[in-house]
Amino acid sequence: MSGYKRVVVTGATSGLGREIAVQLARRGWKIAVTGRRVEELEKTARLIAEAGGEALVLPGSVVDDGEVRAHYARIKAAWGGVDWAILNAGVSEYMNAKEFKAELVRWTFDVNVLGACRWIEAVLPGMLEQGSGVVAGISSLAAFRGLPSSGPYSASKAALSALLESTRVDLRGTGVDVVTVCPGFVKSEMTRRNDPRSMPFLMETPAGAAAVVAGIEARRRVVHFPWQLSYAMKYAVGSMPDFAYDWLAQKLSYLRRKEPSAEAARIMRVGGA
Ligand SMILES: NC(=O)c1ccc[n+]([C@@H]2O[C@H](COP(=O)([O-])OP(=O)(O)OC[C@H]3O[C@@H](n4cnc5c(N)ncnc54)[C@H](OP(=O)(O)O)[C@@H]3O)[C@@H](O)[C@H]2O)c1
Repeated sequence: MSGYKRVVVTGATSGLGREIAVQLARRGWKIAVTGRRVEELEKTARLIAEAGGEALVLPGSVVDDGEVRAHYARIKAAWGGVDWAILNAGVSEYMNAKEFKAELVRWTFDVNVLGACRWIEAVLPGMLEQGSGVVAGISSLAAFRGLPSSGPYSASKAALSALLESTRVDLRGTGVDVVTVCPGFVKSEMTRRNDPRSMPFLMETPAGAAAVVAGIEARRRVVHFPWQLSYAMKYAVGSMPDFAYDWLAQKLSYLRRKEPSAEAARIMRVGGA
């Protein structure tokens, strides 16, 4: 392997994923980027090149097994494998349980949980063979409790965090580290549709991406930020008695997303993806 690190960042067409890719590109690393919006992906590739990195553009979805396998095959052919896999692709949609749609839950899990699983399955044999690597999954502070009107998202991130934790302990001693990243609120396309009052300690995208990269670099088992919100979620809200949490959550339930994405609106309307 050359002195350059080889990284795949899923969901790099906007927000945290794009910014993480650009920050790593400033080190001259090789960055493979995935996402469905081809024009945005090409823009990320241009930003990577301008920052001094080398981009590999892999347009496609993390919900497609064949596409993920083909993407990894392209990385392997180009660079021989990866050193870091940053599994960042994710969706977050509002769903009040009074309008429960199992299909919205299935779609959210398919992207947020199984999307990461497909990539872990793809990259892990190569990392185990080389005896080194980092798998970093972008979970969320929303994993700590079932947030109001966010059942699919909170549940998917709780599942992802548990999955990453099990993977981490299983891989102990192999040279492959697993990092679970739990951001608070960071400016991105995902959070642009949120009620601003629902996002305390909202971070700028570069600061959020820098916190992710620093946490991975330090091989922290679990990275959470910003500290104000993460401590509140972990130690106050996370361990709050259920009756007190219900009261607090109900107080916050007036906060709503402004509008669903086109994809989520279709699922909510017809009940199918
Ligand atoms: N921003 C926050 O406050 C915050 C807080 C906690 C956790 N997170 C997590 O951080 C990650 C990045 O989110 P973000 O805030 O940066 O939002 P974002 O700007 O909306 O970025 C989401 C990325 O995921 C990609 N994506 C969505 N569905 C995909 C699919 N089926 N296949 C491949 N890529 C897909 C999107 O690309 P395409 O649409 O082009 O496919 C986009 O690049 C997510 O996992 C999110 O849950 C964010």
